Formats: sequence, C-alpha cells, structure tokens
Amino acid sequence: MTFDVKRVRDAYPALSDGYAYLDGAAGTQVPTAVIEAIAGSYRTGIGNVGGTFPASGRSGSIVAECRQALADLTGGSPDGVILGPNMTTLTYRLADTLSRNWEAGDEVVVSRLDHDANIRPWVQAAARRGAMVRWAAVDMSTTELPAAQYGELLSERTRLVAVTAASNVVGTRPNVTAIAAAAHAVGALVYVDGVHATPHVPVDVGALGADFYATSAYKWSGPHIGAVVAEPALLETLQPDKLAPAPAGVPGRFERGTAAFADLAGVTAAVEHLASLAPGAPSAAPAGRRQRVLASMAAVEEYETRLFARLSGGLDTMEHVMQYGRAARRAPTAFFTVAGHTPGQVAAHLAERQVNVWHGDNYAWELAGVLGLRDSGGAVRAGLVHYNDEADVDRLLAAVAELA
Ligand SMILES: Cc1ncc(COP(=O)(O)O)c(C=O)c1O
Repeated sequence: MTFDVKRVRDAYPALSDGYAYLDGAAGTQVPTAVIEAIAGSYRTGIGNVGGTFPASGRSGSIVAECRQALADLTGGSPDGVILGPNMTTLTYRLADTLSRNWEAGDEVVVSRLDHDANIRPWVQAAARRGAMVRWAAVDMSTTELPAAQYGELLSERTRLVAVTAASNVVGTRPNVTAIAAAAHAVGALVYVDGVHATPHVPVDVGALGADFYATSAYKWSGPHIGAVVAEPALLETLQPDKLAPAPAGVPGRFERGTAAFADLAGVTAAVEHLASLAPGAPSAAPAGRRQRVLASMAAVEEYETRLFARLSGGLDTMEHVMQYGRAARRAPTAFFTVAGHTPGQVAAHLAERQVNVWHGDNYAWELAGVLGLRDSGGAVRAGLVHYNDEADVDRLLAAVAELA
C-alpha cells in the first residue's frame, strides 16, 4: 500500500520552514484543517455551554462532537470521554478519585517503562492511602516489559495496574492485552497511558482491556487537549471532587471549569485528519469514521515502520552511536547517545542542521535510571510521525554521521 506523504505534508503549513521535525513525540505540528476549525469556532461565535442563545448551543455541539471523535479514534463510548487540559492533569484527577477507597495493605502496580505521568500520580496516591507500590521491571537487554512478570506482581490486594501502550523514548509496545487480562483476573482496574501509542497504531480500548485510556491530542496533530476514555458505567461508580453547581452526571463531573471550546473543535478536526490518511479514504464524511480511522492508522503504522527501519538501521551502522530501544513491537522512536558528545550537544548540532530532536530523559525518569542515563544528560530522541519522510531521516543520519 502506498502512503502519499507528499500530500500529507502539504496539509501542514509549519513543515514549509525547511526543518526536519523529528520532535513529534513531544508534540506534533498541526494541519490547516485543525487551524481552521479552531479559528472558525471563534470567527463564528461561541459562548459558554448551557445558555439559551445559538453561540452557546454551538459550544455544546463542539463538546459533543469532540467526545464522538475521541470515541471513534479509540473505540470507546462518547459518554465515557473525559476532556481536560492534558494527560498529566487528568491522571492526577483520576488517581485522586480512584484512590479514595484504597486502604493500607492494598497494592498498585506501576512500570519502569512508563512516562512519569503514569507513575508518580499513582505512587503519591498510594503513599497517601498507605497502599504498597509494586514495580514491573524492564528487561535491560531488550527494553521489553515482559507481561509474564505480572503473575508475580498481582495479588487479590491489587487495586490498579498502570501501564503504557508505548514508551515515549524507546518505543516499546508492551502486551497490554495480556497484562490487562491478568489484572482483571484479580479484580484490579487497568489505566493505560496511550499518549505515545495513539499517533502510531490503530487503537481499540476494548481489545486492549483498558478500563481507562489516556491520550493527548497534541501528539496526533491536534491542539493541547488531553482525554481519558472509560466505560460510562465505570465512571458512574466514581465520585471526583467537584463544584456544587457543576454537572453531576458522567463524564461531566470529571471535568473542571470551562472547557477550551475552540480547541475541542480542533481535536475533532485532528481525528478527521487521521481518518483521511489512508490512501483512497474519503476526507470529510463523518459516517463510518471509526472504520476510516482504523484503516488509516493501519496505513500509518505500516508507513512509519518502514521509515523507522531506515532511521534505526542507519543509526546502527554508525560505530559512534549507541541505540537503546530493542523491543520486538515498538513505536517509531529512536533513543540514542553519541560517543564524545553530550545529548544536549548532539541536539544543538542537529538544530544547526535544521533537525528538531529532543534530548534528556523526556520524563521517562525511571527508565532513564534503569538505563544508567539519568545523571549523564539522558539520550537523544528522534521520533517519527506520519508527516516525516525519507529526506527528514536522511538529514538526521547525515548530521549524526558528522559527529564521528
Ligand atoms: C507517554 C506519555 N505519557 C504522558 C505524557 C504526558 O502528557 P501530557 O503532556 O498531555 O500531560 C507524555 C508527554 O510527553 C507522554 O509522552
């Protein structure tokens, strides 16, 4: 299947500045359709929700359409989509709510593969309740998170398992389905960090076994908005702190204050953009969007996997480069060090060559510790998304080769 990356790139005004944007794992650029959706909301006139006048009604429609778009993206239910500013804020909120009835002796399982946003909120909530934290380990030689270890980690006291669907640095995609099945067998809930996985693969929260699935639109061509997708019936059992006059139903009671309505219109446009990436997919028909998302993201996965082989294979040929990600199933994200140069120096050298990359621990703080990188400036991260092309990869490889 061919993937028309030229057509895709033309949709992103920012890509015309000549830089190779390999920083997508920290936030992607935004296509014109998303920019127009946000600007169009303001241009048309929006108000706060719940009023009697049309501008208020438009905001209500924007929120409803955004929940439906996220449901189409993840396979969840629109009534279970909690919207908020970002994944970290929402995860702290859910950790606070879910831990209300944890007791001393209860257990929580987190993993050293995860971004700190899916570790610290649970560790801190456990500490408040006197619950015990158990750690799933990363196999250093493969950067895998073996699912088999969960048999040992889980018990009838386990209340929650937090695990990532993909590492934001080494790209490892653990077997979340197997981990979730083991967690459910002991009655634990499963909180999946889908922030890094969502831009790269088709997502099905049911197939993953995720009771909660967190994602951030700014990692997949949308604005800076986060969401957590859960079953409405599960949310009905939870009572987050809320203002007295604020909505009492779900998912509204999990959302705080006034939403960023125009940005939510941008989220819907971003999902529509993702749904239109597959060759031959019609670009604007809302009907059957879930099917179009699945087909489109399958094409994205195939394209990115091919492009990543060029990136990773190219780095592997360089004796002065050490790559860390080695998992069998992984997102297209490279994490590497260059002999004789700090990660910050490498990133600065690449910036001079108009290549955007990140350096440091990228908040994969536990993993950086496991890999022995935490005190030495971390590593360089070059992440692909669907708008990157061979020229981006080749420019990175040429610039890194200069550092030999
Ligand atoms: C895997 C992963 N999880 C969580 C986060 C935190 O997301 P947010 O910035 O939406 O709080 C990030 C952000 O980089 C991430 O990459």
